[in-house]
Amino acid sequence: MRKIWLTRHGESEYNERALLGGDSNISPAGQIYARLLPDVIVDRIPLTLEGATMPVSVWTSTLRRTIQTAELLPFPKLRWKALDEIQAGIFDGWTYEEIADKHPEEYAARKRDKLRYRYPSGESYMDVIQRLEPVIIEIERERECVVVVAHQAILRALYGYFMKIPLSDVPRLEIPLHTLIELVPTPDGRMAEERIPFN
Ligand code: G3H
Repeated sequence: MRKIWLTRHGESEYNERALLGGDSNISPAGQIYARLLPDVIVDRIPLTLEGATMPVSVWTSTLRRTIQTAELLPFPKLRWKALDEIQAGIFDGWTYEEIADKHPEEYAARKRDKLRYRYPSGESYMDVIQRLEPVIIEIERERECVVVVAHQAILRALYGYFMKIPLSDVPRLEIPLHTLIELVPTPDGRMAEERIPFN
């Protein structure tokens, strides 16, 4: 059975400073994760019925932190704009504290309805879920194993879709850094899940 692996990028310089969005490089801790990732995945590649290892492809966003995290994976790579992180609009590069402090009404509106709240000049989770549709269609059509190296909001949406999580719960799903999520389709149409934390 083929596998789908989901992982956030390794810790970024923006993560270190708790800043939203941006296109920063991965931090030293993120680089360690990127160096360990290939062995963790290679060890888990399933075999075909003929006993060969299944082909694997790697999909990243177009942002530096996912490209750098995937760099050492020895498989063909594809960049998807649709996998870029949720656009924080005018709040790109801000911290949550700054938003709460300078725009408490926006902060409260997002807290009230995180699924539908759209950042000014940016996106909502609903927007993200919609733009991921072509990616989901391709993952489902794909016969190979796929490693998706993306971002927190994006992986919440993809994970939520595959695990049939109600939409209202998607924006608060736990998708930690430095954790590989392995999904394996089961004969009853569900996905078996394993989480492999490492760093
Ligand atoms: O914007 C950056 C985060 O990855 C998304 O997290 O939707 O919980 O604010 P959040």
